[in-house]
Amino acid sequence: MNFVSKRGLTAAILSTVFVAGAAYAEPTAEVLHWWTSGGEAKAVQALKADFEANGGKWIDNAVAGGAGDAAMTVLRSRALAGDPPAAAQIKGPAIQEWAKQGVLANLDKVAASENWDKVLPPAIQSVMKYQGHYVAAPVNVHRVDWLWVNPTVLAKVDGKIPTSWDEFNALAEKLKAAGITPLAHGGQPWQDSTIFETVVLGLGGPAFHKKAFVDLDEATLKSDTMVKAFDQMRKIRGYVDRDFPGREWNLATQMVMNGTAAMQIMGDWAKGEFLAAGKVPGKDFVCAPTPAPQGGYLSNVDSFAMFNVKGDDKVAGQMLFAKLLVGEKFQETFNLFKGSIPARTGVSMAKFDECAKASETALNAASANGTLLPSMAHGMSTTGSVSGAIFEVVTQHFNSTMSSQDAVKKLAEAVALAK
Ligand code: GAL
Repeated sequence: MNFVSKRGLTAAILSTVFVAGAAYAEPTAEVLHWWTSGGEAKAVQALKADFEANGGKWIDNAVAGGAGDAAMTVLRSRALAGDPPAAAQIKGPAIQEWAKQGVLANLDKVAASENWDKVLPPAIQSVMKYQGHYVAAPVNVHRVDWLWVNPTVLAKVDGKIPTSWDEFNALAEKLKAAGITPLAHGGQPWQDSTIFETVVLGLGGPAFHKKAFVDLDEATLKSDTMVKAFDQMRKIRGYVDRDFPGREWNLATQMVMNGTAAMQIMGDWAKGEFLAAGKVPGKDFVCAPTPAPQGGYLSNVDSFAMFNVKGDDKVAGQMLFAKLLVGEKFQETFNLFKGSIPARTGVSMAKFDECAKASETALNAASANGTLLPSMAHGMSTTGSVSGAIFEVVTQHFNSTMSSQDAVKKLAEAVALAK
């Protein structure tokens, strides 16, 4: 532990943990996260730099693996062993589940001094609060329903950005006929489900997506529209390359970058990859919403919760960390790298690119007209056990010859069992 240094002094004043004559508890935070790809790592580096510049000591606990499945396994075992990290990336209804177990620290003090009730949109506040108290801090809003396209490859077949799934299929067939892999994909359950929920949104519309993945309505899960969604998944299975099983999402993004494939369906953390590789939006790559004639916006808010830990240095670290996360400057820097847009209001979008600006416009429109939806594939719409059950059916169907009729039957059964 360090004694008061110039840096420490600033932090001590900030976090008011300095006691005259006593050793200063250096704000320390072990941060568990899964941001290890090119763009993600740059974003997390910005987070670390901000924390350290404010006198914090950062202990990095990065657990690789897209969408955090591996990170969540580590978190559960650490929590079970009574040794949770000070801060962990968790989101959506999982925040409530952890809070219910009484293991999360109350962030109301920081929230009050930083005005979170004013600067955070109500829809985000409610995800961050448990029984009216803040237990998590949001860093961004990712849009999930994006199509990333290599325009040079598209031009080879004289293709246009598809605005319906029929157009998407026609384009994919054209690309295939020209010997080009239409879709870069990584065969991992969360990636299969990322595609699946964009198909469900596109074919069923926003109200249908909500009935299926928020309300978990049995009739909707078994409906003809859901049968059509699985039919579309079967088509998509024919548009990916042979080596798709197990591939990480960022390697799929690289296929679009280097022209090995024409498109990828992925949230805008993929844009973080393009940017980290020096690619320019509108020139080297194009972003467009996945085909959804009835509109909608699948949102995914990354956030951190602080776990109950002992030690003044750790508690000071948690409070400093929470405060910085929602700060204006930090949300600008972080999101410029991450591909997302700020979670808080009042951050200038001047430095953001056209994809981020389009995301913000679409987000505002969707929240105004009631088509803002929580992403199922990214843990925002339902519990981990229900989304896990959905993932399993979607992936089984994708990797077999299962009929769409059987798939919807299995889907409804699996959801009923898991909820
Ligand atoms: C999402 C997460 C994003 C991104 C992605 C791939 O679930 O919200 O921040 O990192 O996984 O790892």
